[in-house]
Amino acid sequence: MEFIKVYSLAELAPSSQKIVVVGNKKIALFHYNDKITAIGNACLHKGGPLGKGVVKEKYDGLYVACPWHGWEYNIENGNAAPGYPDKQAVYEVKVEDDAIWINPTPIQKAHKEHFENPLLKELIDLKYQTNKDSLNILGISTTNMSAGLPRFSTSEDALEKSLAYAEETYGASTRIVKLRDLEFKNCEGFYSQHSHACTWPCSITEMNPEDGMTEVYESMILWADIIIVSTPIRWGNASALYFKMAERLNCVQNQITINNKVLIKNKVASFIITGGQDNIQQVAGQMMCFFTDLGFTFPPFSFLGWSRGWTAEDMDKNILQFKKSQYIERTSKEIIDNCVETLTQIKNIRNENIHPPKPKRKDSLSAEIDNPDMNI
Ligand code: FES
Repeated sequence: MEFIKVYSLAELAPSSQKIVVVGNKKIALFHYNDKITAIGNACLHKGGPLGKGVVKEKYDGLYVACPWHGWEYNIENGNAAPGYPDKQAVYEVKVEDDAIWINPTPIQKAHKEHFENPLLKELIDLKYQTNKDSLNILGISTTNMSAGLPRFSTSEDALEKSLAYAEETYGASTRIVKLRDLEFKNCEGFYSQHSHACTWPCSITEMNPEDGMTEVYESMILWADIIIVSTPIRWGNASALYFKMAERLNCVQNQITINNKVLIKNKVASFIITGGQDNIQQVAGQMMCFFTDLGFTFPPFSFLGWSRGWTAEDMDKNILQFKKSQYIERTSKEIIDNCVETLTQIKNIRNENIHPPKPKRKDSLSAEIDNPDMNI
């Protein structure tokens, strides 16, 4: 194919880059070290815009890091970082009459190596471990404390009571995940760049399956029929660890937005919310809103709450009173009864008749506007 004039030389300042549209292709054009080079703009991982990445001298040359999750490519020969066999498309460029010309037929085609991490295969393939007879109950404790200095936690104690009752009374299989024992990274907000930058499994997990959220994803999405999430109230809200987990669950909800795919099906959720003072209803409201958006069903009366009012600063007595509470003894069992009863009903829900009333990209008021930098 013929060379096409794209810019005057003055329009691409030294140490800068641009994304240029040639026909139906987007090409990232770089001007570094007195040389003009061009590679495909769409990252081979999930299509991030390489022309928006940061260029640095690295390894054996100049590399651009994809702004979405950091895959790197040599801006001259398109090679991925040393050790990775992927190659980005490379285009021939020439400068004539103070203008930059590109030949849109690549001199090297893009090549993506198929790589699947076996540790994440179950999550990628969504190998559910539930069936019509299973009764798997997952407790998630979101309180924080030092491993070397354990203390009595009201939220976790009520959760343990609930799980023990579920085993004894219903023969349920139970698991407890204590978020404080898992090392996991904060959500890095990839979604803010583009909805497709938030991936399933989460790209943080993809790059490091040892990240503690892998256990949460596996237990919550593949294994559990029922989840009971317990939290203390901290300054009127659920715990910081709860929110850290919730942010990392964005990738579950986002599958609905970008792929019309609901990962949570036929599952029930309830909550245990305890605090020395108050704000139970607002914490419950936030948790219910979040978990219904993931696809969970709630039984009638889906949370247990404990607090002693605004002036209850005598926290030592909170524990004394909690341990003696007949209310906790009773309700930690009742939320299990309600969950199990609801589960028998919702196991039979016909998912093909359930529609998530969530906005899709095409519902946006700017759906018709093309973002020239993006590849998707
Ligand atoms: S690193 Fe480029 S899209 Fe993920």
